[in-house]
Amino acid sequence: MTATKANSIVIFGASGDLTSRKLIPALYRLHLRDRLPPNFRIVGVSRSSFTDDAWREQLAITTAKFAGKEFEEKAWSSFAERIFYVPGDIQQAEDFSELKARLEELESGPADRLYYISTMPQLYADAAAQLGASGLADDSEGARRIVIEKPFGTDLKTAKALNESIFKVFREDQVYRIDHYLGKETVQNLMVLRFGNTIFEPLWNRNYIDHVQITVAEEVIIGRRGGYYDKSGILRDMFQNHIFQLMMITAMEAPVHYDATSVRDEKVKVLRAIRALKGSDFAECGVRAQYEGYTGEEGVDPQSQTETFAALKLHIDNWRWQGVPFYLRSGKGLSCRTTQIVIEFHHPPHLLFSDQQSLPQANRLVIQIQPAEGIQMHFQSKVPDQEMQLRQSQLDFRFDSGGSLPDAYQRLLQDALEGDASLFARSDEVELAWEIIDPIIAAWRSPAAPAMNTYPVAGWGPEASTEWMRQQGREWFDVCPVIKR
Ligand code: BG6
Repeated sequence: MTATKANSIVIFGASGDLTSRKLIPALYRLHLRDRLPPNFRIVGVSRSSFTDDAWREQLAITTAKFAGKEFEEKAWSSFAERIFYVPGDIQQAEDFSELKARLEELESGPADRLYYISTMPQLYADAAAQLGASGLADDSEGARRIVIEKPFGTDLKTAKALNESIFKVFREDQVYRIDHYLGKETVQNLMVLRFGNTIFEPLWNRNYIDHVQITVAEEVIIGRRGGYYDKSGILRDMFQNHIFQLMMITAMEAPVHYDATSVRDEKVKVLRAIRALKGSDFAECGVRAQYEGYTGEEGVDPQSQTETFAALKLHIDNWRWQGVPFYLRSGKGLSCRTTQIVIEFHHPPHLLFSDQQSLPQANRLVIQIQPAEGIQMHFQSKVPDQEMQLRQSQLDFRFDSGGSLPDAYQRLLQDALEGDASLFARSDEVELAWEIIDPIIAAWRSPAAPAMNTYPVAGWGPEASTEWMRQQGREWFDVCPVIKR
């Protein structure tokens, strides 16, 4: 009988927060569900000096915290015995030779390997180069895949440079660029809603849809992330990646197959169709703001012009979406945490019922990505026992009323281990997203920028954003979801 091929998951940046908060708990849950390859091991690499046991002990504590109820001593022990640690510095070639030797010893035969790069972003390119130079990327005896955490560059130039460095060592089909929004069940369900049903797609176009709103609202403020955030700002931190992903999936054409190439080809076409902004567009295309007190946060420049809130209007110039604005909005320090996509349909064309003063409210499809995962359809119905009076009613679908949904990393890690890149960003996708965002960031740092507004924490952003929508004859859907569990 042939032994099962070995499979190693190597995490660079092992002592970092992401590893203990997300990666190890996700891998542990996959182990609990028996979804990891049979002959797997996890090897952590970072500069801190741990023994295997010391790292296991530390991870036991953090996993118990982050995996919550799912943490069981017995399952943990069977998982922990497959965890190893190799101290190493990304900049040191000898450390990669040592890592290689340790991996070969642990694997004792041909192995598939997944390299997860979760170090400081400045080290991503070096990590790829060292993997290449040390022979660790050689895939003659087994798959070699590399997962790159976000952020993927800070602008088009750096993203291109990073892609180039990676391509010196790995092919595109070996590269998995993470955007954890794609791992969310409800984001994948959006594809099922659109392409697994017949009733929505005929309406999903300019003939029926007035506009689309995508909101990622967060209650949290900057906290201790001031140093990073002040250089990044909301357009880099949320729009270029997560919000654009939501927009692409909402707007894309149906792929011919559900596979990495077909899905990503269709997503990229959406980005290619985004109307380029020019001249005065930059001042009019959106609203920017900071929450009150932001410039006093630790690590933030007191004169900072970095946005913690932005609203943007983009147009997708293609047959389906011509004339349908996409309003994108995100902010820190808002009323509640909610990610939602609102598809607002046209008003009915004619006032039929005699006591109506105005057209009834338009139909809306509200896709709740998180935390109240579900979909609501808003429509008009008759008020019972009254003449022809109308009121807004709602059909309410809850994605999983029974318990919590799996964490995004669980799905993404499993897909990367199985070699399915459908839910990862491709190089052209990332570069095009920067190509759209870069000029907006540049214009918003120039004298042509729209005014910087402020807003009180725990609202829906600046008054200017409400007013901006009003001027366009539209209204934000400022509703915090009701969480029923
Ligand atoms: C991260 C951003 O990528 O996404 C954070 O850096 C943000 O600023 C987070 O808070 C939001 O993710 P989620 O899954 O909580 O919506």
